[in-house]
Amino acid sequence: MSTVACIGAGTVGRAWAVVFARAGYDVRLYDAIGGEVARTAIPGARRTLELLSENGLLKEDVDTVVSRISAASSIAEAVADVVFVQESVREDVAVKREVFAEIAAHAPADAILASSTSAIPGSDFLGHFAHPERALVVHPVNPPSLIPLVELCGTQWTAPETVAKARALMTEAGMRPIVLKKEIDGFILNRLQFTLVAEALHLVGEGYCTPEDVDAVLTVGLALRWASIGPFEVAHLNAPDGFQGFIDRLGPMMRRMGEAARTDYDWTPEQIASAHAELAERVPIDSIADRQAWRDRQILALRQLKQKQ
Ligand SMILES: NC(=O)c1ccc[n+]([C@@H]2O[C@H](COP(=O)([O-])OP(=O)(O)OC[C@H]3O[C@@H](n4cnc5c(N)ncnc54)[C@H](O)[C@@H]3O)[C@@H](O)[C@H]2O)c1
Repeated sequence: MSTVACIGAGTVGRAWAVVFARAGYDVRLYDAIGGEVARTAIPGARRTLELLSENGLLKEDVDTVVSRISAASSIAEAVADVVFVQESVREDVAVKREVFAEIAAHAPADAILASSTSAIPGSDFLGHFAHPERALVVHPVNPPSLIPLVELCGTQWTAPETVAKARALMTEAGMRPIVLKKEIDGFILNRLQFTLVAEALHLVGEGYCTPEDVDAVLTVGLALRWASIGPFEVAHLNAPDGFQGFIDRLGPMMRRMGEAARTDYDWTPEQIASAHAELAERVPIDSIADRQAWRDRQILALRQLKQKQ
């Protein structure tokens, strides 16, 4: 059985361990927290596997899958003889450079080296070691154990075969990769997500609606379609003659709203405090963990529904 290393065992790293272990890989999990990996990260991975199992999304029993995940005591030990390394350490370019120097020094020359970075361009830290052609960004959505989308983005050094192999490995592991054609800050998902959040802050900040209203617009409005079809297909289906007809009729309106949107909105500390107060009333801070668990069950229920269809 092939082995994969997960470097960083925080929120994202331990979820990656679940992804690879359930796909049949032995997983070596390393983090600077040392013994905490065995005490907290692996039990955390077990809880996610139990949730997947309860929802019919795990083919094997939980014990079998968990037994594939082991704690490593150094990066060198974690990456020896692996086919793939997924780095998920702190979002800090200096830390990532240091970690990749060590990964690259000890991993097999033909292993693929991937980073989970959310918004640091791979070119800032994936070209500073031998054989940078084997490295790329594989950006997940949190948590990758529940949400399949991954964004693959090479640097100017990445070999096309590296991207092709990473794409095949991700697909085989049950993920749904998209491949970016060139580097851009924030990749695709976060650019779309944060543009929407920024305009939502503008609408709330200027008194057009409340944060609760915005959340309702998404959860009982737009997202009901978006869970099955994305904005391009929504437009295509919203006109009898398809996307071209949609743009012919609604294009000017789209341009007008795009121009009026305030994605550069300069929100004030008072506006943020007010939004926070509304949210903390809806979801008290001490119930966030429960609400996260509820969110995860909702995601899995939706995935089950989509799978049935
Ligand atoms: N949380 C998200 O929503 C999300 C989504 C997609 C991608 N990411 C990216 O994944 C990466 C990890 O994010 P996270 O949310 O899991 O963060 P986290 O803070 O939960 O975990 C980061 C882990 O890195 C470890 N670490 C720090 N320095 C280290 C070092 N030198 N060697 C080994 N381990 C070290 C820390 O001990 C910690 O456990 C970041 O690059 C982040 O941008 C996060």
